[in-house]
Amino acid sequence: MRKLLTIALLCSHAALFSQVNIIPQPVEVKMPKVAGQFVITKNTPIVLEGSGLENSANFLNDYLQQVYGFTLKVTDKSTPGGIHLNYEKMEYTYPGAYVLRSGKGQVYIAGDNEAGTFYGVQTLLQLLPVEKSASLKVPYIDIKDYPRFQYRGLMLDVSRHFFPISFVKKYIDYLAMHKMNYFHWHLTDDQGWRIEIKKYPKLTEVGGYRNGTIIGRYPGTGNDHQRYGGFYTQEEAKEIVAYAAKRYITVIPEIEMPGHASAALTAYPHLGCTGGPYQVQQTWGVFNDVFCAGNDTVFNFMQDVLDEVIPLFPAKYVHVGADECPKDSWKKCPKCQKRIKDHNLKDEHELQSYFIQRMEKYINGKGKTLVGWDEILEGGLAPNAVVMSWRGEAGGIEAAKQKHQVIMTPTTYVYFDYSQTKSEDSVTIGGFIPLQKVYGYEPIPKELTAEEGKYILGAQANLWTEYILYPSKVEYMIFPRATALSEVLWSPKEKRDWNSFEKRLQTQFKRYDLWGSSYSKAYFDLKASIAPTPNYDGSILYSLQTAAPNSKILYTLNGYDSKVSVYSKPLVVKMDDQIGAMLEVNGQQLSPVNQKFSFNKATGRKVSITTPTAENRRGNGGTFGLVNGAQSEKGILGDEWLGWQGPDMEAIIDLGKIQSISSVKVHLLDQQPSWVYLPEYVEVLVSEDGKNFQSTGKSNQAVKESHNMASITVPAAAKARYVKVFARNHGTIADGNPGAGSKAWLFVDEISVN
Ligand code: ACM
Ligand code: ZN
Repeated sequence: MRKLLTIALLCSHAALFSQVNIIPQPVEVKMPKVAGQFVITKNTPIVLEGSGLENSANFLNDYLQQVYGFTLKVTDKSTPGGIHLNYEKMEYTYPGAYVLRSGKGQVYIAGDNEAGTFYGVQTLLQLLPVEKSASLKVPYIDIKDYPRFQYRGLMLDVSRHFFPISFVKKYIDYLAMHKMNYFHWHLTDDQGWRIEIKKYPKLTEVGGYRNGTIIGRYPGTGNDHQRYGGFYTQEEAKEIVAYAAKRYITVIPEIEMPGHASAALTAYPHLGCTGGPYQVQQTWGVFNDVFCAGNDTVFNFMQDVLDEVIPLFPAKYVHVGADECPKDSWKKCPKCQKRIKDHNLKDEHELQSYFIQRMEKYINGKGKTLVGWDEILEGGLAPNAVVMSWRGEAGGIEAAKQKHQVIMTPTTYVYFDYSQTKSEDSVTIGGFIPLQKVYGYEPIPKELTAEEGKYILGAQANLWTEYILYPSKVEYMIFPRATALSEVLWSPKEKRDWNSFEKRLQTQFKRYDLWGSSYSKAYFDLKASIAPTPNYDGSILYSLQTAAPNSKILYTLNGYDSKVSVYSKPLVVKMDDQIGAMLEVNGQQLSPVNQKFSFNKATGRKVSITTPTAENRRGNGGTFGLVNGAQSEKGILGDEWLGWQGPDMEAIIDLGKIQSISSVKVHLLDQQPSWVYLPEYVEVLVSEDGKNFQSTGKSNQAVKESHNMASITVPAAAKARYVKVFARNHGTIADGNPGAGSKAWLFVDEISVN
């Protein structure tokens, strides 16, 4: 009897729980023994039980007005009933703790501080229905919550494309609704200076506008020749700061130095090494037009700029950029070279470090802390600097080991300008960071000890806007990935659970609709994977999957023109074939995938590598991807590629039995701007027993297969069961090329044996 009762209770709770879809997942959620609902109508009061709670009440009312079309009366009289906002002392690591109790007659929200109550209100918003209604049912619930990380941020680049104040505010609201607390405002760059500086009016008059923009993806198909630009006045910046403050969000301004300076130099050419002429850039990338590090006028200018910027932003952090500063102009500049000599600096990296350390002294003198991208590690870190680790996690790890505070923003997980779907039909900068990858991000790198881990303040996603022209595209790029990131940053690590997130996400999608916001539906994409058969018999298994509810997967073999079947289980593919598949949802056909197979003697066979790939370049299908019969047609956007940075590749394929072969072809990526080089040569060695291998020859004759892919074929007339394929890595990248001095990447996605 007892047992049965428990089950019955659990069931009713489970039913109620389905209404509770809070993101980020709170620390503790309890449903009361007796289920019920508190109903908010336009007669429900908001009762302020303490001072300083107006921001929370106003946000709640603004939200109710915008989404449901009514507001509530706010009172400070301690009347019973209604929505009570209050304070309560709590245990927490970082500010922002709150409790929310919804029960008979009232909703009670109490924070340990103002921000805590505000976060409690954000949770309340997520307990409201996702349909418009005049009576909003809030389930009885008991929540205790606090943040895991003290820094929870999103960045917005307003230089590459400019966004109006109204949208910047909306972006800040999005942060607030995700319990984030830092808005990083990237205000200056090569393509536009966006903040008014009264002492240097040309920064915005001249530097705020460019005379055109490339069309399409870099290098582009032309230039639109349209004057483009805009800037924020100091009054507008203050307005944004005040707006954010009411949402317990700190705005961090970024003023780029010494690189990404084209717009500033166009306005004031004497600040560059050559004196110009310069232009506000019309294309994307990294430019040699940087501030002269040998000229004291530049430092005076920078100090003047900061003298005007710092009073606008009460944040303790001032971001000085410091990323991607080419050293070419410094190498040629007598003033820069004199500075190196006078200060006994080793090279231009130390000159960059000199620049940043000198600015840090000034910033520290104003009681502020300097933040810079991880290039500030090169040539020596400024003593008190906070490092934003963007080129992967390495910079953050290094900085934490040097006992510097770190904000993690790695390209590998949180660059929201990267594509989130493989069937992206708008232009993006490339890359591939799907939702689950963001959700799986752990901001404290495992390389750090517990003590070192404490230097990780938190993380932030960056939104660079080269290919983001409008607010709706901003929303599309950040949602739902920012929602996933909010859980990474707020929820206890042990509460993070992808399956649970997926369930709550379904409601979040409805919330985006309720807000009228754009978002990506890539989560529902049809996903294909290729696996070996259990005995590696020369065929492969092709599986299709989707998270889309009420959907059917349709497929055809031999291209699109043959019979259409409904997918039910993995397809066995035995020979050259072309599979076309798509989703059918409510009669609509979506998310097409198309896979061509090119079978050869290696396809579907056992393969191993003796040279481990880079950890993040293992290929989606693992090593088997080398012989899965599917050659990437997508360059680096394809996820099949196995990559080695520095090491050679050695792969061994077991053809299953001794057979006659004639040649071996290796399919390669050739994308030098991204540090990806063809191998020096490919060598094939064959064996009948897997022990004694004999070389059949080498080749470095690459045949271009597209603008960034190539293949190398090695003659291999032999009888063999085992085929060993060796590719010699290009080695160190030569001077004058992107990535000069670093180890080159070698990328391989398919090996064919004929
Ligand atoms: C950066 O993405 N250049 C910081
Ligand atoms: Zn110079």
